[in-house]
Amino acid sequence: MIGDKKVLFSGMQATGNLTLGNYLGALKNWVKLSDEYECFYCVVDEHSITVRQNPAELRKRARALLTLYIAAGLDPEKNCIYYQSHVSAHAELAWILNCFTYMGELNRMTQFKDKSAKHADNINAGLFTYPVLMASDILLFQADVVPVGIDQKQHLEITRDIAQRFNGIYGDVFTIPEPYFGKAGAKIMSLQDPAKKMSKSDENPNGSIYLMDDPDTIIRKFKRAVTDSEGQILYRDEQPGIRNLIDIYRACTGKSVEEVLAEFDGKGYGELKMAVGESVVDQLRPLQSEVERISKDKAYLDGIIKNNAEKAGYYANKTLRKVQKKIGFPERIR
Ligand code: TRP
Repeated sequence: MIGDKKVLFSGMQATGNLTLGNYLGALKNWVKLSDEYECFYCVVDEHSITVRQNPAELRKRARALLTLYIAAGLDPEKNCIYYQSHVSAHAELAWILNCFTYMGELNRMTQFKDKSAKHADNINAGLFTYPVLMASDILLFQADVVPVGIDQKQHLEITRDIAQRFNGIYGDVFTIPEPYFGKAGAKIMSLQDPAKKMSKSDENPNGSIYLMDDPDTIIRKFKRAVTDSEGQILYRDEQPGIRNLIDIYRACTGKSVEEVLAEFDGKGYGELKMAVGESVVDQLRPLQSEVERISKDKAYLDGIIKNNAEKAGYYANKTLRKVQKKIGFPERIR
């Protein structure tokens, strides 16, 4: 708790271009939660280097992501929006928690298996201990809730296991966090392969709508979206492409499945695609113009970055000092 509010922590990686899936599935939910909780939204740039990055590109993307958090409606005066690498307590706690995490546990992480298959030439120790750094992010802030995608479920479970193990030895040091998976239906699939999640690392750029895509590109991608040969607009498992289009439309317009089905009753796929494309253009327009406006104000952004790193550092160091004391590190001389 901070004051009378529960604490929320979440983060995103600054790699790849964020997609409509990231926005509708995650960011938009974050904005809804931001009044209820004391929120920490981190740009997890330290996680990003588990895969080789171009330095200039990483720096640019990290700033773009931080800007996007604000443009999406997270008030940076109320929500602590910051870079992980600006708060050294993340790495320090990660080292400590590495000593409370078993090789066997980390070996079971499916994301590690997937990523090592994908980056077979660079299976580094950081990739293996990635979940420990993530646990540190969360536990440093004594977070009560962590909104994440379902793909992060295993990482949340290991975070809870590490925290419980530590508490079992040293007393109640860490709050045990609860995952928050958001509403079903917000999961957006690839426009080219509706069996796959829309992903920023997709090799086929036509499968994903990027948040900074211009209107023509967005409409073109929807026109090319993969559907089926059923020829009718229904919301069911047998028509995953159509269902995905309906889900996107619902998320952008706030309409229910029934309303959407009524609206397109007897109409063709072409009409549906155009309507969905336009709803996405409308959804992204204000976001894009906010990104542009905020990016231009360098002094404002720099101020936010500085103040929030200090605020995050204050809370993070409080937990870190407590942990250091518990495990028997010598006291600091003041
Ligand atoms: N691993 C998360 C992802 O790829 C990102 C992340 C890092 C995160 N630290 C976190 C998410 C802490 C929630 C809380 O999506």
